[in-house]
Amino acid sequence: MGSKFRLKRLFIMEQLAFLRRSRKHWGSHLNFAREFIGSALQNANPARSVLILGAGWGLEIPWRSAPIGTFGWDADPLSRFGTYMRHRRWAHWMFSDFTDAFAELDKLAHRLQIMEGRWALRPAPAAARRMAGLLPSFTPSPKALEAWIREYSPGTIICANVLGQIKPMAYRMVELAFKPRTPWVADQDIADPLQNALDEWTAKVVRSLLNVLRQSGSDIYMLHDRGVVHQDADLALGEWTDPWPEQLRASESALDISDPLPGIDILQELDSLSCKNKNRWIWPVGAEQIHIVEALEYRS
Ligand SMILES: C[S@@+](CC[C@H](N)C(=O)[O-])C[C@H]1O[C@@H](n2cnc3c(N)ncnc32)[C@H](O)[C@@H]1O
Repeated sequence: MGSKFRLKRLFIMEQLAFLRRSRKHWGSHLNFAREFIGSALQNANPARSVLILGAGWGLEIPWRSAPIGTFGWDADPLSRFGTYMRHRRWAHWMFSDFTDAFAELDKLAHRLQIMEGRWALRPAPAAARRMAGLLPSFTPSPKALEAWIREYSPGTIICANVLGQIKPMAYRMVELAFKPRTPWVADQDIADPLQNALDEWTAKVVRSLLNVLRQSGSDIYMLHDRGVVHQDADLALGEWTDPWPEQLRASESALDISDPLPGIDILQELDSLSCKNKNRWIWPVGAEQIHIVEALEYRS
């Protein structure tokens, strides 16, 4: 099975898993997200193109407010059709991976399963170690996105809840390549070199995207997971502070938190742009999974 096919299948599987989740407690998140993206679409200059990265099936996108020249970009091959079914809008669409990084990751993860020159499986720990050693030499470069921006010169780019997907997608891709074996170190108290390398890979991919957005000359609207709390806690948000976990107010003293943007603070990364508005809210995604969502608005 080729890498292109595997990528498409992975994006469809992840999309269906997202859409199949119970949305019982998603109401206020969806209202905030639609309001934020709706304002981006309404403020957009209708004479220029608008780009929505991670447009998905349009759960968070009020397409009725989108100017005619609005493009969706989503690697899920069913996303344009899903958007049509939800909004009756057959939008302009780009279907590729806008990071241009996943195909290489997938090929490497598969190639390492087999020992060179021998038709034999490499033991999983050895394949994982080798992958951890090779990943740092990758230099992600979102060439297709850069070329698209050069050609269309969009007035507005909306990053629609997609940056936090890169890390789980990379983990999933590697797990599938190793299947039925596992790539991870079994003992959770021991550092996992492959997980560390994948986090660094993710950070490089996110930075390469932010770099392209920073230089785009467009108004930028960023909607993303700032963090994920893996327990059912009574949460509230305090002052904006750095490091971001200190923004959380909780009844529990120690929270089990993960960072979907490993080590990257988007506010800091984009501090050369003018941030017009910033907002945050709490999104209870499911049992023992609470997302802290950030919405940042930048003017070119
Ligand atoms: C959490 S969903 C966002 C939902 C979407 N904003 C909506 O309104 O339905 C993330 C979306 O980003 C897409 N995606 C994730 N990584 C991508 C990538 N590297 N290139 C293109 N699309 C990607 C997924 O297919 C998915 O549709």
